Amino acid sequence: MQCAEQTEQYMKSSLPPEWSIPEPLRESMRYSLEAGGKRIRPCLVLMAAEAVRGEGAAGVQALPVAAAVEYIHTYSLIHDDLPAMDDDDYRRGKPTNHKVFGEAMAILAGDALLTHAFRLISHAGKQGELDAITALAIVEELSVLAGASGMVGGQAADILGEQGQTTIEELEYIHKHKTSDLIVFSVKAGGRVGGASQKQLELLSRFGTNVGLAFQIQDDILDLIGDEKKLGKKVNSDVAQQKVTYPYLIGLEESKSLVRQLTRDAKEAVLDAGLHAPERLLQIADFLVSRDH
Ligand code: IPE
Ligand code: IPE
Ligand code: MG
Ligand code: MG
Ligand code: MG
Repeated sequence: MQCAEQTEQYMKSSLPPEWSIPEPLRESMRYSLEAGGKRIRPCLVLMAAEAVRGEGAAGVQALPVAAAVEYIHTYSLIHDDLPAMDDDDYRRGKPTNHKVFGEAMAILAGDALLTHAFRLISHAGKQGELDAITALAIVEELSVLAGASGMVGGQAADILGEQGQTTIEELEYIHKHKTSDLIVFSVKAGGRVGGASQKQLELLSRFGTNVGLAFQIQDDILDLIGDEKKLGKKVNSDVAQQKVTYPYLIGLEESKSLVRQLTRDAKEAVLDAGLHAPERLLQIADFLVSRDH
């Protein structure tokens, strides 16, 4: 995907080379950022901006936001893999960050990636690469959706979940926050850069919630039936950790049909939003349901 390459190119120079940073920290940050990954969230930022404003137009302004969300996502994966959390050894086809750099440096690399995400957006606002009021709205929304009532809250609820105890409503909370919130952020932030109306932002948000939930259910499904080589991470991690997942609670077939239903609902929201060029946003939604990695 071109959006993935564009983001990777931008990310290469996103940590100023002249900054004095302890070398193992810089290396550890770079290791996870450059390990690959589907770059779904940055692509959603870029595609949402394009959908609202029309092809090509909003790309440059959206890039710092696209990079920022990938920084936050990458930090969340480094911490998610730690022994105190999911205790995983492989990620994006390579040993996990803490396996290579040790737990302390992995925690700190995550902290630094998280912090730098906010710098990327606010700096773009200050430099005029991005309208300053838009940048401020995006920073505020990121601090909510990535924070205690957003992604971090979802991760906390995930850790607190217990097989035999956690209900489907609680699981929906977990998935909506640990995964949907950053996806909602991505499409809304892209929409804001593209100049979306309040109504369009609401519909993009509905798209993000549904796609995000479908995405995490598909992740749960792939943990059971996926191919380790394609996924770049170990399967059956949820089984080993006795996680509460959709397949665990409602079964594999029911989970698959829910993914399809949520994707249909998501696409409907985008079609209702009266966007200039929604095609590529709709394509991403389709890719997410049919994905095997
Ligand atoms: C994995 O996210 C964690 C979830 C929230 C499901 P991705 O499947 O987007 O991981 P990468 O970025 O492609 O490695
Ligand atoms: C991770 O969910 C969600 C976040 C990192 C916020 P998972 O724990 O299911 O992700 P994987 O399966 O390790 O990629
Ligand atoms: Mg986890
Ligand atoms: Mg995990
Ligand atoms: Mg998973």
